Amino acid sequence: MSAFPRHLAIIMDGNGRWAKKRLLPRQAGHLMGANGLKRIVKACAGHDIKYLTIFAFSTENWRRPPEEVSALMSLFIQYLTREVKDMAEQGVRLRIIGNREAFDPPLQRLIEQAESVTAHNTRINLTVAANYGGQWDILHAAQTWSQAHPGQPLTAMTEHDLAAHLSTAGMPDPDLLIRTGGESRISNFLLWQMAYAEFYFTDILWPDFDEAALDQALTWYGSRVRRFGKTDEQVLGESV
Ligand code: IPE
Ligand code: IPE
Ligand code: MG
Repeated sequence: MSAFPRHLAIIMDGNGRWAKKRLLPRQAGHLMGANGLKRIVKACAGHDIKYLTIFAFSTENWRRPPEEVSALMSLFIQYLTREVKDMAEQGVRLRIIGNREAFDPPLQRLIEQAESVTAHNTRINLTVAANYGGQWDILHAAQTWSQAHPGQPLTAMTEHDLAAHLSTAGMPDPDLLIRTGGESRISNFLLWQMAYAEFYFTDILWPDFDEAALDQALTWYGSRVRRFGKTDEQVLGESV
């Protein structure tokens, strides 16, 4: 039996369908989704979950209609501008992972500011994956390792070395992944880091995902036996 996860990862999916059901523009779903996130961060902090990593925009999401992409960018900017003060007061340490070079320079500066204003906080680590792809992360880690070790062949690189160059370096790997919105796929999220995560899929659309839904997922997680390759007997022996 596992207690609460130390690191919870969430694929916040279903905003578009939530809006469509209400005959609203997709952007309205994204806005509701962003508002709901605040409550989930609070609830996680209340449960003493130390790391929460959320998927906000994938490297593939640029393929969406340009109006939707720019609405998502505006929402990101609004979130960073309006929420950082609150987050700082609540002890949230904010980090953004993903390839930020694709963002406009003003957005890049906002990201840097938000990270530095909250850098000393320790209550909960909120990591927002934006222009993030698991494949990009792994490739980028291998490239950075290589640059840092000139003259050394890639065969000299260990799993530990690669992990130390991922965008999540220094964080524990996610214990639990929640994906809302009814799809059962990983969509290029934290591919390397989720090697041993428990996967929880729910049909609830992200804007409807509330504290009660989170508690249900956490209860499910609590009933999992995490073997990490060992047998049941070995794991039970360790817990007595
Ligand atoms: C998730 O909701 C948010 C982002 C990908 C930015 P979607 O926009 O994917 O919602 P659906 O899947 O179309 O309902
Ligand atoms: C995954 O959702 C990305 C985010 C939640 C940001 P998508 O809705 O983009 O995933 P696919 O394309 O349906 O797999
Ligand atoms: Mg979707």
